[in-house]
Amino acid sequence: MRAVDIIMKKRMGGELTKEEIHFLITGYVDGSIPEYQISAWLMAVYFKGMTFEETGYLTREMIASGEVLDLEGIPGPLVDKHSTGGVGDKVSIILAPLAAACGVRVPMMSGRALGHTGGTLDKLDTIPGFTTEIDIKQFRSNLMGSGMAMTGQSKEVVPADKKMYALRDVTATVESVPLITASILSKKFAEGAQSLVFDVKCGSGAFMKNMEEAETLATSLVETGRSLGRKVVAVITRMDEPLGHMVGNFLEIEESIDCLKGKGPDDLMDVTYRLTAWMLVAGGICSDIDSALAMCREKIESGEAWEKFLLNVKEQGGDPEALQKGYGTFRSAYAVELKAETDGYVQEIDAFETGMTGVMIGVGRNKTTDNVLPYVGIELKKKCGDEVKAGDVLCVIYTEDEGKNADALAKMNAAYKIGPDPYVKKDMILKEIK
Ligand code: URA
Repeated sequence: MRAVDIIMKKRMGGELTKEEIHFLITGYVDGSIPEYQISAWLMAVYFKGMTFEETGYLTREMIASGEVLDLEGIPGPLVDKHSTGGVGDKVSIILAPLAAACGVRVPMMSGRALGHTGGTLDKLDTIPGFTTEIDIKQFRSNLMGSGMAMTGQSKEVVPADKKMYALRDVTATVESVPLITASILSKKFAEGAQSLVFDVKCGSGAFMKNMEEAETLATSLVETGRSLGRKVVAVITRMDEPLGHMVGNFLEIEESIDCLKGKGPDDLMDVTYRLTAWMLVAGGICSDIDSALAMCREKIESGEAWEKFLLNVKEQGGDPEALQKGYGTFRSAYAVELKAETDGYVQEIDAFETGMTGVMIGVGRNKTTDNVLPYVGIELKKKCGDEVKAGDVLCVIYTEDEGKNADALAKMNAAYKIGPDPYVKKDMILKEIK
């Protein structure tokens, strides 16, 4: 078999066999197939797609590229959620301790920044001392302790996704239903969750820009997940405006803290409550979504979710005191303000443009070798529906490189649209597939 023939077959729209996919993935992981050939193959898949069978083979090969975490003996329910990626999407950081406070155990394997979207691991890394590189012993111990464990792909667990995820990020091959499906499900299978809730983002800040694309991805995740023997729910949520007020790695940790203390913004809390509630239903903690929502609200109000978060920070090497001292003070060197030019109401904050501003200033990566910057980001002072007067601050952009300030301001100016008419708030939850 030769990689070039498989690339050509896909380029011509052919359906790959199990053996061909096995050849490519094992060769990629052991280094015998170079990245330039995998990049070409990814681009062919991006344009020609994959059948349901091919997506299943790819997912299974990616799982088989490493170990599957052994959670034998950990009492359930073991439930996780995964987002297809958005801007300002810090839901996992709030949802994991919240679900744990409700009695679910959350084995969570997340990703890093991808394309214009942020990454849970990059955000968690900004907590002083916190590490997401934990071994299986620690992973199990956290599940028995706080009830949540936060990690990422590694050389041992789904190494194929670790390599391919980074490669897709810099080869413009992220927005592909089969590649997203295999990437997400390989991680979710390897981490040992019994039930899964997917947050399929839809809108300018998502990889799926409209409802038709989002439904295709949701169906692919649900069907492939079920074919792997998992209980699956998918929720399609709005992602045309960044979620919450903060976009940036430490900035999003700060906003997660606000949410866990009961002071979170409505859009972010609506999505977080709904997804967590589905985890409780999928895990059998609650029999229906309304009682699950009530339990979630109660665990935020009582402070139990916040306590779980602090416990997990300690378990993963973090320093809760240093974190709380850093709140509101860990900032990059420059802060520039974008001001409104006219009176009116905020009609739109383009989430894609906001995400790309983030990538430019260092929230995400331009090359696989780039390091993300912990304290840069964008604080949205005004959100859709807010009334503004000329001169009001719309957002503050935190940067480490003064030379980027003018471009960042211009991009955010393009992202904001102000109009004369009051704005009608839109539902965050667009559709549920159970
Ligand atoms: N999240 C993932 O883990 N993988 C993708 O491809 C997209 C979002």
